[in-house]
Amino acid sequence: MSEQNDKLIINGEKFIPFLSSREIQSRVKELGEEISRDYRGKVPIFIGVLNGAFIFMSDLIKNVDIECEIDFFKLSSYGDSKISSGNVKLLKELNCDVNGRDIIIVEDIVDTGLSIKYIEELFSKHTPKSMKVVSLLVKPESLKYDVKIDYIGFRIPSQFVIGYGLDYQQKYRNLTSIYILSE
Ligand code: IMP
Repeated sequence: MSEQNDKLIINGEKFIPFLSSREIQSRVKELGEEISRDYRGKVPIFIGVLNGAFIFMSDLIKNVDIECEIDFFKLSSYGDSKISSGNVKLLKELNCDVNGRDIIIVEDIVDTGLSIKYIEELFSKHTPKSMKVVSLLVKPESLKYDVKIDYIGFRIPSQFVIGYGLDYQQKYRNLTSIYILSE
């Protein structure tokens, strides 16, 4: 990886700045405030989808001022590719009992919607009181499944992005801002 005037060159491909750390933090704060208003008087469980959502989830719950619990799923990701494999596997189960609880699924990005569809099917075997989804990023033009995303940070074009938890070949999650693959 080399950095020239803010752009990143990775394996000969150029990634350019897309969302700054400041823009992300300000939107995450708004989402945290909105969720706090909507869940006032309740104790929701935030369920993060690993690996990508760990940074967003950490910042999000710091902006939530109601009592809440957290847990994580781990789903198989894109692996080394920039394209969805079309398969999802559950790599880590939840540790909490979601029956009768208000749950909020926390995703870093919704692309085709397959992961969210898979999660909805997992929860159809349980009886949570309510289930909503928050995703920092959504690629509306890539959606192939009919899924409802209740809280959206940013709607973005159907291009590959990295940083702020999002990886390329398992790397670059630690970038504090988000970069997009330049076409
Ligand atoms: P979906 O199941 O197709 O909606 O894709 C969701 C998952 O794909 C996310 O949780 C990410 O792990 C991964 N993903 C989708 N688009 C990107 C991207 O642009 N950069 C990095 N990972 C992505």
